[in-house]
Amino acid sequence: MRVKILITGGNGMLGADVVPILSEKFETVVPTRSELDVTNRENVIKTIRNGRFDWVIHLAALTDLDWCEDHVEETISVNALGTKNIVDACEIAGCRIAYISTSGVFSGNKQTHYTEDDMPAPINIYALSKYLGELAVSAKNEGKWLILRVGWLFGGGEKDKKFVGKIFNLMKKADKIEAVANIWGSPNYSVDVGELIVKFIEYNAYGLFHVANSGEPASRFDMAVAIKEFLRANVEIQPVGAEKFPTKAKRPRMEAIKSIRLEELGIKPRHWKDALGDYIKRLMKL
Ligand SMILES: NC(=O)c1ccc[n+]([C@@H]2O[C@H](COP(=O)([O-])OP(=O)(O)OC[C@H]3O[C@@H](n4cnc5c(N)ncnc54)[C@H](OP(=O)(O)O)[C@@H]3O)[C@@H](O)[C@H]2O)c1
Repeated sequence: MRVKILITGGNGMLGADVVPILSEKFETVVPTRSELDVTNRENVIKTIRNGRFDWVIHLAALTDLDWCEDHVEETISVNALGTKNIVDACEIAGCRIAYISTSGVFSGNKQTHYTEDDMPAPINIYALSKYLGELAVSAKNEGKWLILRVGWLFGGGEKDKKFVGKIFNLMKKADKIEAVANIWGSPNYSVDVGELIVKFIEYNAYGLFHVANSGEPASRFDMAVAIKEFLRANVEIQPVGAEKFPTKAKRPRMEAIKSIRLEELGIKPRHWKDALGDYIKRLMKL
């Protein structure tokens, strides 16, 4: 029998790449927010119980960090309590849950990559809400849970409104671009996340994993330079400090992640520059 999966938040940027990958291998159900609002506990429990799913892949979240900082109640309600609703429903229905969390849960004070052994210490409301979601997931379901912390996502093709999509479009017309050089993370291709989720489902894996692409901690400046090289664009990339673009929500200075758990399984994600190169080729064909 085919594995049956419910995907929440499947219409977002990560879902744009993850849904087609999972749908090729498994039977998937992908409700919109209006069909399955994760804050509607009763409907969440009914849907997951009646659906006889093997897995719920829980992507749904409020993801605009600066908006979240001003809307604490809504953010906690969707990202933390909504996740708890999914967790409780999975326990009632006896199905597994995979929760997508973020490298942003750390304080940013470390000088290098965070691993699964490091302790989260969120410094903004979004990160706090995602970490509360992690705690809800790991508290139940007798170990039948998966928490995947992803890095700085790029991907989504036509749905890409994030950094790489913006820079890609800007490089066609600008002759100078400023990019922040003093905040570091792990660039992470959403297609690679989708392919890893397939492996986790096939192996019935459980636990906490960091899943970003490999490579040294990278800044937005490093990413912009890489995009310029792929495009052979005639544009100057100017490194600037994050102070130049003040934001409502504080960002950790360091949120690069790597996985000691994936290494133990013999899985090494490819370098972010290789993944980014593939994605740029894809954007060029759109
Ligand atoms: N993007 C990143 O760099 C990044 C990094 C780390 C972790 N993540 C995590 O990855 C996951 C997916 O992120 P993304 O970038 O794809 O975000 P996104 O583009 O903002 O998509 C989020 C999705 O969640 C849905 N949603 C929001 N509130 C909901 C609710 N109350 N009930 C049901 N669905 C709801 C949205 O529905 P609508 O389509 O109706 O708006 C949308 O489809 C999130 O859990 C996020 O925290 C993202």
